[in-house]
Order: sequence, then structure tokens, then C-alpha cells
Amino acid sequence: MKGINYFQPFSVDINLMKGIMDAPDNRVVRTASSMRGHYADESALEKIIREQGDPIHYEVFEKIMPQEYGHLCFGISRLQPGLVGEECFMTKGHYHSILETAEIYLCLGGEGYLVMKTQNGDCAVEYMKSGRLVYVPPCWAHRSVNTGEEELILLFIYPAEAGHNYGDIEKEGFPKRIFKRAGKVVIE
Ligand SMILES: [Fe+2]
Repeated sequence: MKGINYFQPFSVDINLMKGIMDAPDNRVVRTASSMRGHYADESALEKIIREQGDPIHYEVFEKIMPQEYGHLCFGISRLQPGLVGEECFMTKGHYHSILETAEIYLCLGGEGYLVMKTQNGDCAVEYMKSGRLVYVPPCWAHRSVNTGEEELILLFIYPAEAGHNYGDIEKEGFPKRIFKRAGKVVIE
């Protein structure tokens, strides 16, 4: 059609068993120190930073897409297993800057939960394991939590114009936290 600036189709190889995407354009690294303010036990996080040399907490591998209506962004996140005090390792979590945008998470490996909340304070928790897909509807903030012993590996797809709003979640937090006590997962 005349007047359309056609974007060229392309392909990406993803090893579903290992959860590795070939040739990502961008790698985002979040170390333990970038998680300050998110965990209940702040001194336990400081201990990890101090004693383990600010280890990688999670990484995101993504294709860089035009951040405009009509496109989709996608990539893979890898969240390490572990505990901060009794609380399971998690991502910062975010709303989308354009709030009314959804997201799909497909778990490729590991075990955990997607914790979601609305601005009204409603909270939802969905269990994730390899092969399980979670639909995050528009307007729900979301964070992943690793309750397993392996990396939690997620493939995500969302509208490219959505953007990320981390600031509000830093202030609000999520109504539910996920702990491991005596080997048992506790959501409270
Ligand atoms: Fe998102």
C-alpha cells in the first residue's frame, strides 16, 4: 500500500529448552544493589551486596523495536534463585507507562509466580512453571518471583508503545510478598 513505511520481517532463534534467544539487541542487568527499597528485609539485601560483590539479580535480553503503536516488544528475562532474608528473589515490577496495555509471559524454565496489582489495590498471583503462560491484562502492574532452585526464565511479549513505569511501584510496593520458610512457599 502506498504511504506505508514497511518494516522488514525478521526471525529469531530461541532455544526453548535452555531459554536462550540468539542475537539479542540489548541486555539489561539488574544487580542486587538495584533492588534496594523493594525487599522487606533491607539489611539482608545489604549483606548480599556486601558479601557477594553485588551479584546479578536478573537479566533481560530483548530485541529493540520501534516503540510505537502497532509493533510488539519481546525478549527473555532470567531471574536468579535465592532469598533475601526469607523473601524469594524477584524483579522490581512495573506498570506500563501507557497503563491500558497488556503483556504475555510464557515460562520456559524454573518455577515461581507472577504477582500483579491494580491502582485500586487489587492483587492477583499466578503460578508459573515451564510451559505455563500468564496473561497480564491492561492496567495491572506485574513482577516475577522465583520460588524454585533454578533460574526462572520467561519469554515476554507486549505492545511496543507501552513503556515502563517503575516509579509508582517503588512508592506503592505490591500488596503480597512471597517467602520461603522451612522450604515452604508462603504468600502473604
Ligand atoms: Fe511489562
